[in-house]
Amino acid sequence: MVESRSKRNAATRVDRLRAQIEEANHRYYVLDEPEIIDAEYDAMLRDLIELETKHPELRTPDSPTQRVGAPASERFAPYEHARPMLSLANAASFDELRAFDERARRLAGRAVQYVCELKIDGLAIALDYRNGSLVRGGTRGDGRIGEDVTANLRTINTIPLRLRSKSLPEFLEARGEVYLRKSNFERLNSAREREGLSVFANPRNAASGGVRQLDPALTAQRRLSFFAYQLVVGDGALQTQWEALRRLESFGLPVNPNIARAATLDGVLEYCEQWEQKRDELDYEIDGVVVKVDDLVLQEHLGVVARDPRWAIAFKFKPREARTKLIDIAVTVGRTGTLNPNAVLKPVRIGGVTVKSATLHNRDYIQNNDIRIGDTVLVTRAGDVIPRVVGPVLAERTGKERRFRMPDRCPVCGSDVDHPPGEAMSRCTNAACPAQVYERVRHFASRGAMDIEGLGDVMAQQLTERTLVRDIADIYRLSEESLAQVPRTGPKSIESLLRNIGRSKERGLAPLLYGLGIRFVGTQTAQILANDFGTIDAIADAREEELQRSEGIGPEVAGSVVLFFKQPANRQMIERLRRARVNMTAPKRTARAAGKLAGKTFVLTGTLPNLTRDEATALIVAAGGKVTGSVSKQTDYVVAGDEAGSKLTKAEQLGIAILDEAALRKLL
Ligand code: IVH
Repeated sequence: MVESRSKRNAATRVDRLRAQIEEANHRYYVLDEPEIIDAEYDAMLRDLIELETKHPELRTPDSPTQRVGAPASERFAPYEHARPMLSLANAASFDELRAFDERARRLAGRAVQYVCELKIDGLAIALDYRNGSLVRGGTRGDGRIGEDVTANLRTINTIPLRLRSKSLPEFLEARGEVYLRKSNFERLNSAREREGLSVFANPRNAASGGVRQLDPALTAQRRLSFFAYQLVVGDGALQTQWEALRRLESFGLPVNPNIARAATLDGVLEYCEQWEQKRDELDYEIDGVVVKVDDLVLQEHLGVVARDPRWAIAFKFKPREARTKLIDIAVTVGRTGTLNPNAVLKPVRIGGVTVKSATLHNRDYIQNNDIRIGDTVLVTRAGDVIPRVVGPVLAERTGKERRFRMPDRCPVCGSDVDHPPGEAMSRCTNAACPAQVYERVRHFASRGAMDIEGLGDVMAQQLTERTLVRDIADIYRLSEESLAQVPRTGPKSIESLLRNIGRSKERGLAPLLYGLGIRFVGTQTAQILANDFGTIDAIADAREEELQRSEGIGPEVAGSVVLFFKQPANRQMIERLRRARVNMTAPKRTARAAGKLAGKTFVLTGTLPNLTRDEATALIVAAGGKVTGSVSKQTDYVVAGDEAGSKLTKAEQLGIAILDEAALRKLL
């Protein structure tokens, strides 16, 4: 009696869990719009596995525990996997890793060595090579049948179309992860934002959507990357996973450089701990560590149970997603007058930090994702990327939520707001709006621009709120008397600030141009224009075609520069800067030509110890060199820092000179 009731309860719970998991799978794989966080999904799946283990009669072939992912969509031809593409069991704690190790050692009857790899947060694919040529590539799908996305995968630069080694097996399958670099993700989202398109919640969604485009040209635009982590060859020539990774590398396939061999579990734990700390230093997202038994014969012996191999496990880092309440949507005004909606959140801990605000991008993002004030929302914090609201948890809606409306008056100055049709961004129409002035002053004084120490956030706010500074030229009219009105300033800090303002007048044309905050003019563009045109007047009077003759200046940048200098207010401001004796010329061209780096092409990769990418670029360009994004035969030097990736490998292959920061400085 008691027994049968507990069984009925179990059956009901199994049904409910299956329905919830199927729904989550559909949202994740098919719609690319997950609504629950990974940890919640994992917990449901675990519960289901536990119930089915206790009540094996409830296990059915179509249970979500019996397959790996979602079925392939019908948009692509099926891709049948010769061997199933498995998924991995998760370990959420070191205790679970210990249990994994104990089981492996027990079954092996001896000590077990491991390979530790980063768990790249992208999507798994398989690549089929025949006699060294890529013939086919597919997604994982349900592990047995995926989607044939060969044409799309061919557009991914790091996937070789031909393998390099001379001793190649006739058939070879390489498996790995397609992913999107964080830097490319940011660029992609800003471009989409400018074009009024919806933005992606995270690099993984952008990568997975990118691989499954119907037009390969659209895949190419995403600039996806790839890391190989598994080699399937029929010839049994491989002994260990470590060797397999080395082989993959020798074939010219990109292998993540941060792999490690661990003789015992202690080494594994150390690796996990280290990378959970360091994950933000990487230019790609990782969500854990994959621990694999190194010995391939032992792997075979350990085998697969249900859907997971017993020779590998995924140690999952603490989740960086959480649910919380969206209390309100606050609107701030940016440098160019854009109205930026920000989520005011009930504070929530995500991956070790408390998050209480997050970006909502623009009006369209809020509308397209149907985000309402009062909603329970899903928030992610991905590395150095600012926290963002992914979307509402619809199941938690009560009906009391309010829709958001972009204000028609600027929340800072009360002027009219323009909502240009077809554009995602609304703008305050008042160029003298203190919020805009504040952002412009901050940018003007920043390190890459006029580098005015002492004119940081707080000071900029004080000066603009008190209207002591109404545009950037006013900075050069500040005096001891006017600065004395600002609270918490003493004679010493005033004197130092005035000295730094005075010094900034000699920064020269390139930093000035960048500091003006012209749309699309970053440090490199500013430097190129400064080098080519020499004075601000030459740039201000140049026509679009003339500007476009400069290297890397396209119609978008040229149009933006012309538009800026067409505004009478901007011309007047330049005149006032001139009267304040701000230097508006570039150092003489001869100085540039004499620079050692004239005509040399550089590629930057990895993180340098002391210089940001912008700073290194500025130094190289100032010395007459050029910085490009990818390594080719035309590249003269690759400057490599920590975590340098495939660019470094490629440079080595091509025999290009590799510099570290110290060597670069020497060259400069
Ligand atoms: S090994 C049986 N290695 O994580 C071995 N997977 O749930 C299966 N992943 O589907 C994969 N980095 O999409 C492996 N270094 C790595 C990985 C990795 C990311 C992904 C992959 C896989 C999922 C495991």
